Amino acid sequence: MALGGPGGFRGGRVSEDVDPYFARLSSSMDQDREIFHCDVWNSIVHTMALERAGELDENTAIRILEGLVEVLRDGYEALPDAEDVHEAVESALSERIGDEAGWLQLGRSRNDQVATDVRIRMRERIVESCTALLNLAETLVSKAEETADVVLASYTHLKRAQPCTLGFWLSSYVPLVLSGAKVLLEVPGSDECPLGCSAATGSTVPVDRHWEAIMLGFDRPSVHCGEATGFRRPVLWALSALSVVSSDLTRLATDTIFLSSDEVGVLEPPDETSSTSSVMPHKKNPDAAELARAELKAVQSLADAALRINDDLPSFYDRDLQVINGLLWEAFDRFTLAVRVLARTIRDSRVDEEAAERTVLESHVMAVDLAEGIAREEGIPFREAHRIVGRVTAKLAEEDIPLNPDTVEAVARALREEGVEMPERALRSLLNPERALRRPVAGSTHPGRLRFTLEGLRRDVKAVESRIDSLASRHERALELTDARLRGRGVEGFLEAYRGYARGLDRGSRPG
Ligand code: ARG
Repeated sequence: MALGGPGGFRGGRVSEDVDPYFARLSSSMDQDREIFHCDVWNSIVHTMALERAGELDENTAIRILEGLVEVLRDGYEALPDAEDVHEAVESALSERIGDEAGWLQLGRSRNDQVATDVRIRMRERIVESCTALLNLAETLVSKAEETADVVLASYTHLKRAQPCTLGFWLSSYVPLVLSGAKVLLEVPGSDECPLGCSAATGSTVPVDRHWEAIMLGFDRPSVHCGEATGFRRPVLWALSALSVVSSDLTRLATDTIFLSSDEVGVLEPPDETSSTSSVMPHKKNPDAAELARAELKAVQSLADAALRINDDLPSFYDRDLQVINGLLWEAFDRFTLAVRVLARTIRDSRVDEEAAERTVLESHVMAVDLAEGIAREEGIPFREAHRIVGRVTAKLAEEDIPLNPDTVEAVARALREEGVEMPERALRSLLNPERALRRPVAGSTHPGRLRFTLEGLRRDVKAVESRIDSLASRHERALELTDARLRGRGVEGFLEAYRGYARGLDRGSRPG
């Protein structure tokens, strides 16, 4: 089989014939759907840079620019079969304008080209995924504000531990989610443009790499051509960030499932993100959180696969690197979809306050408070108070008696047997969970303190939002700048075609 057609890369050093299995292995056309629009933008800017450098005459440049916008407008499906999108775009251009298309790759290689395309698309995916993270953070803050007084047991080792509130529990994820967005927005190297580095060491063509970088929405050209083309540092950092946040969010998914279980029953996820059984008619299952958990684990495996591919490759570019791109897009797809579904599930979950309170009232989670009370009010060293309360709770457990304001008599009796005389009034106050929540230490469950903490987190949400906005608007400004230059040359329609194509790509992580 032959690939590339007119303007294709084969037919020189290697014949046009390709083994069909190798053709499949070699082709990145499928995954390159993700970077097609970025590749055309890249080519447009490179053509302008060649003209600015005096390497292309004006007429040839304009014909190439017109042809490229046409290729973008005709869309991905109209591209000829090729090894990758770079070859396909060049072939499609040569179908339109003939041999002049052959100037496009002067001073550029697919190695700097793909590294640049991937960073541009990654910028779009970072904006999209961070927006989803921000929405999750906001959802968690709002839900936490609503439930800052809903008493609930905290768990350690999945055993009831200390009194807590649902708001305290949910908000613990907010700093994790926000830190994930912050890392993604600051991925080192993502603001550096590889274009002009050619295959590995630069080229003899004096393109202005700084100008190219700014035109494509980067801050500056990458500092080292070998590093920029032969390594995938920004991609690996982004995948690592996705992986770390995914790991944390699998725990949020598990918590959602646990809190909605029949055994706890504090949350009831909405029908819209729940499933039922084909045979058990009574079932309402938390499938959204389960599927999100699995997707987030898959994201971690994709990140790990990318690192393994990178391991011990010889410098500089190796074809292995191509496989990493597909993993990156898949990771963003899975991650963003999971985050969106988790946010919707939590936002619309109903809260059963009585069920929540029962986890405290029908347990011994007030034991630490009791031990601290005995130590502080009776002057008994904490270690001794801890042992006493340990024996008291063991005894109460045998008799199925929980530790709460209604069981004060039984508690007082058990304490008396341990030689501790505590007035019932003092005990009742010690065992009151609402009072207990108002802990005097910073960062505690105290609803007033928690609201203060949540206000701070809201400010942090706003800060991340403006960081996302500024990345998105730098990207938009660069696109508009390119479009304005094209229009100045009489070439219309780039921006609409670019935006239209990018919108169509979002099906992977947007609702179907
Ligand atoms: N499709 C390739 C990739 O994604 C880019 C082309 C580089 N190919 C090459 N043989 N140097 O990495």
